[in-house]
Amino acid sequence: MFNIENFDIKLNTEYIGRNFIYTEEINSTNTFLLAKENGQNINGTVMLAEKQTEGKGRKGRNWQSAPEVNLLFSILLTNDKSLFKNANLINFAASLAVSISVENLYQLKTDLKWPNDVLINGKKISGILIEAVSQSGKIERLVLGIGINVNQNSFQGSFNYLPTSLRNELGKMVEREKLLADILNNLEVLLERLKNDKNNLIEDWKQKCRMLGNRITITDNEIEKSGIFYDIDEDGFLLLQTKDEIEKIHFGDVSLY
Ligand code: BTN
Repeated sequence: MFNIENFDIKLNTEYIGRNFIYTEEINSTNTFLLAKENGQNINGTVMLAEKQTEGKGRKGRNWQSAPEVNLLFSILLTNDKSLFKNANLINFAASLAVSISVENLYQLKTDLKWPNDVLINGKKISGILIEAVSQSGKIERLVLGIGINVNQNSFQGSFNYLPTSLRNELGKMVEREKLLADILNNLEVLLERLKNDKNNLIEDWKQKCRMLGNRITITDNEIEKSGIFYDIDEDGFLLLQTKDEIEKIHFGDVSLY
């Protein structure tokens, strides 16, 4: 069982995770925090679930996870205009936060895959899903959902990308409380950096993206495009160099060609 006290001692943030909701089971932590009706409005509220019955992945996929061994959590961000201006880059801050924690705590090398996956040895350990509610074209509340395969040791089912866990890569169990606190500590700092110096954040993300410069294929709704992964622009979109032009890609799954 997740030990909240142990987590709390290691949390150094000002607002992220200060309002903390722990639940054994929920449909989806993202769905819960996104719905205003559930009464959660405090900026930085974190909900952690041991099990999700309808865990959501990107592009309408499911997020599958064994109960009680992984990290399934969402962070509610409200009323932060300067952050919401760069909503797309929150993905980058989040995947970077996960990557920095994993590398520092366990000396495992991570690789970032556009737009927001964290890989170890070519397999996925973490996925991120951002959802937002807008009014009159302006984001009102935004939920950043993060799933991390921590102590799960086998994976059944079909996956868009082969999964692994920290336990499988390290050969030993990992303390979830310490990992979650460290990620939230990093995330708060990185979100500040996103507001003040987003180019610097993008540069750090690019340093950890080994697909950059390679020949890739982007798949979106069965449409495939191939080219060179040329760059990431200042809004976090992927720039694909094809024969005739540099095309801006907003969505898609990237794979090496
Ligand atoms: C992906 O890689 O497709 C994104 C996966 C995001 C999964 C997390 S788990 C916690 C939060 N709640 C959800 O329903 N999804 C996100």
